[in-house]
Amino acid sequence: MLFWPGALPARRKTLLLNEKHKPWATGAILFTFFSSVGYGIYAGSALNGPTGGTLPGLIYGGLAYLMMFYCALLGVRRRLPAWSLGRMSGWLRGHIWIGLLTLPMVLFHGGFSVQGTLSTALIWLYGIVMVSGVLGLALQQALPRMMTHQIEMETIYEQIPHIIDQLRSEAEKLVEKACGPLDPEKRAKAEEAESNRFKSAEALRDFYERRIDGFITSERLPPEADLSIPARSHALFGHLRKLVPPEVQETVTKLEDICDERRQLELQIKLHHLLHGWLFLHTPLSLALLLLGATHALVSLVY
Ligand code: HEM
Repeated sequence: MLFWPGALPARRKTLLLNEKHKPWATGAILFTFFSSVGYGIYAGSALNGPTGGTLPGLIYGGLAYLMMFYCALLGVRRRLPAWSLGRMSGWLRGHIWIGLLTLPMVLFHGGFSVQGTLSTALIWLYGIVMVSGVLGLALQQALPRMMTHQIEMETIYEQIPHIIDQLRSEAEKLVEKACGPLDPEKRAKAEEAESNRFKSAEALRDFYERRIDGFITSERLPPEADLSIPARSHALFGHLRKLVPPEVQETVTKLEDICDERRQLELQIKLHHLLHGWLFLHTPLSLALLLLGATHALVSLVY
């Protein structure tokens, strides 16, 4: 669907504000300057004050709508990557600056005032699309850097469930090597044969079954769980080390590393959702904005 962001992508080129934005920024400033001068002249000479229904008011409104239409086409461009519709980076830059330019156009169109229910609803919708766009842009600047700094082992987002499975089987193997089979039937037999060896590491098996297994495999880590909090997790593993014999110490360290990695994956999932989740507000509301904008134009022109 064109106006629904769809499944969160594995890796999506994000929009970074860099020196390539300079020509766009200069153009936007100049455009705002000249249209402000035009507005000043028009507002000063309009007998009944500036309103949306005058010729200049209609021009500003029409420009605002065209600009919004162009911004919305980004969604189409995103979903048709194989079509020769120009480079994505150019589209993204245009989206930001033309999107921002809609603000003076909208203000000049209404003469800095809003009348009527439809126009008020439209302004609210417009405000939400703009604010979400600006917030999304800010997130796109900050989060990728944060991911690089805070996540040592960043992985491809879509592979995270697979990596969680791997972590779990790695942890299970480590524990089984130290404590014997985790399956109760197999364990009973193994304990008969080598009871002393496995008995000494019972605390480890107990810790694994009560805390680690569920922690690694849970779809979303409960934030209040002890292993979700680095300091508490560290203290628990420290305590466990005191309960197990020397030959199992290394296993405990490896299990602690596995839990650290699981926490990092969780952070990556959260940041990824934050980085792309806002589009679930921005994109559908931008469609609603275009539809309501067209209705507003029709109603105002006809009645
Ligand atoms: C009112 C005008 C606007 C409309 C109609 C609009 C609409 C859209 C649409 C349809 C998308 C594509 C979403 C997708 O691919 O799922 C999008 C993406 C985006 N918009 Fe807007 N937008 C507007 C204004 C803005 C403004 C003012 C900003 C920021 C200053 C902004 C920032 C963004 C960003 C950062 C993206 C994501 C680009 C990407 O990485 O794909 N938008 N917008």
